[in-house]
Amino acid sequence: MPPADGAAGLRALVLGSGGGGGVPQWNCRCRVCALAWAGDSRVKPRTQSSLAVSADGESWLLLNASIDLRQQILATPALQPKREGRHSPIAAVLLTNADVDHAAGLLALRERQPFTLWGTRSTLDIIGANRVFDVVAHDIVPRRSVEPGERFEPLPGLTVELFPVPGKVPLWLERGEVKTDELGEQTVAVTAEAAGRRLVYAPGCARATDDLHQRIANANALFFDGTLFADDEMIVAGLGEKTGRRMGHMPISGPDGTLEALARHARVRRILTHINNSNPILVEGSPEEAKVKAAGWEIAYDGMEVAP
Ligand code: MLT
Ligand code: MN
Ligand code: ZN
Repeated sequence: MPPADGAAGLRALVLGSGGGGGVPQWNCRCRVCALAWAGDSRVKPRTQSSLAVSADGESWLLLNASIDLRQQILATPALQPKREGRHSPIAAVLLTNADVDHAAGLLALRERQPFTLWGTRSTLDIIGANRVFDVVAHDIVPRRSVEPGERFEPLPGLTVELFPVPGKVPLWLERGEVKTDELGEQTVAVTAEAAGRRLVYAPGCARATDDLHQRIANANALFFDGTLFADDEMIVAGLGEKTGRRMGHMPISGPDGTLEALARHARVRRILTHINNSNPILVEGSPEEAKVKAAGWEIAYDGMEVAP
């Protein structure tokens, strides 16, 4: 049971559990998307990656502003205006990188509503270099940069820290040879803590580091990169030329995949999110879904509520 509204307690709402493109993807008829287009009950439609976090159920921090944010607000009563006139329970937004699925939703928050935008210097510089994001007016939406390792309070009672995870520049900024395993400010994960409970959110991660292990071990719940089941599944399905690792995402299966790499954290509630539409775990009843569940993982869905 989540804490009552107004009561102190960490809670998380999965706004979007899909990876880039969502499920089904607008131009895709892969095996999973075909079931989703057909309305088959084995595949839930999913919007693109975002998690909302609160310490009181009244004001919310968005971990990433999904390109599907408007649809997510329409589906989520907790995020809808509560007071007459202009109002939003969304008090802050934090970007873990500048990927389109994670940042484009800022454009949906443009009707002169005050909130605070948080991110690393690097991510805020990328957003700052794109003048279209100035529709989110600087005078009422301050942009606050934070360093990895710096603790801050984006909402009263919610303490957050960013930490680097291996990743790469956003797809739309790739030029020439791309390092897919870089530790820095461009791809970060998040720990969020309230009332003595803690979650880790890492929607993109190319490799498990010692730092990541330590943070998971100290958490009650983990939301982790579930982009691909098999590293080569997009290639095998004829959907693209890249492996998961090339896209900055460690696969779920295989040597050094997530099931193997994070097996030691059985004590923590572990949830896969940012799941690409090519991923067979999205088909309920599939052997791949059974395999991740047998390994102790849950599969996020849009609207999932977690009180870590
Ligand atoms: C990713 O997670 O790899 C990105 O969302 C890719 C993209 O921008 O489509
Ligand atoms: Mn993504
Ligand atoms: Zn597809």
